[in-house]
Amino acid sequence: MAKNLNIFSLEGRIAVVTGAARGIGEAICRQLGEMGAHVVMADLLDLVDETASKLADEGLSTEGERIDVTSSQSVQDLADRVNAKHGRVDIVVANAGVAYESSTEDHSDEDWRRVMAINLDGVFFVARAFGSIMLDQGKGSIVAISSIAGVKAVRPELHIGYDVTKAGVAHFCKVAGVEWATRGVRVNAVGPGYTNTEMLQKVGLEQPAVMARWIDDIPMSRLLEPAEIAQAVAFLASDAASGITGQLLMADAGYSAA
Ligand SMILES: NC(=O)c1ccc[n+]([C@@H]2O[C@H](COP(=O)([O-])OP(=O)(O)OC[C@H]3O[C@@H](n4cnc5c(N)ncnc54)[C@H](O)[C@@H]3O)[C@@H](O)[C@H]2O)c1
Repeated sequence: MAKNLNIFSLEGRIAVVTGAARGIGEAICRQLGEMGAHVVMADLLDLVDETASKLADEGLSTEGERIDVTSSQSVQDLADRVNAKHGRVDIVVANAGVAYESSTEDHSDEDWRRVMAINLDGVFFVARAFGSIMLDQGKGSIVAISSIAGVKAVRPELHIGYDVTKAGVAHFCKVAGVEWATRGVRVNAVGPGYTNTEMLQKVGLEQPAVMARWIDDIPMSRLLEPAEIAQAVAFLASDAASGITGQLLMADAGYSAA
């Protein structure tokens, strides 16, 4: 391998990914693993063990772990376990997230609190617990998953609570990135566009007019594959992005630029 490609290698790195059981999280784990990292795959669902085994069968170094990102204790316990077992954490990807569809006037208190708890509290708890380990090491990269919905009002679907959390995730990364900039810990966000996951495939089948509108609004005229989101995350996690912190990188097929 040419020498300057080593900046993309994650050989020997310890990575933790939340929301790792499926979808974009699974793709991020595969990408980081293929670049050489050992990946701790954390999720609320027991399915994460099956997914971790599947990636291990592909020759990657993985382990499954249970986490509830809405609980600061659960997140802290995982950070302590990983640090005790591996002695360090180099990369953490705060990917766990949910969307609730609702108009503003119909959004319930309960759903509002829930989406804030998972998408926003979760990113804070993960960044604080794992960021503290990284600050002690004097090195680390945190990447959180925002969305196109965090930078513009997407249409026609309505999910204002989700949108606010994703704007918050991007701003959290900006502020934390600046706060920790002289201490070796970089914090960035990736903003995926419409991505070809099970949820979106369902929309395509059940609401073809909505899917057609999305495709029309996307400059590349297609959904992104989960692997394409993972590539952007892996870049920010790697030393290739050593000068980048506090940024939101849109991986959205041009959607937010149009
Ligand atoms: N799919 C898209 O088009 C799209 C677009 C923009 C942003 N995103 C974001 O990408 C991320 C991944 O989305 P996805 O499409 O793969 O969704 P997904 O529902 O397939 O996966 C989300 C994962 O998060 C886990 N999770 C949920 N609550 C949790 C909790 N409290 N603690 C730990 N894990 C929890 C789920 O179990 C699941 O495995 C999310 O943050 C989402 O908002 C997705």
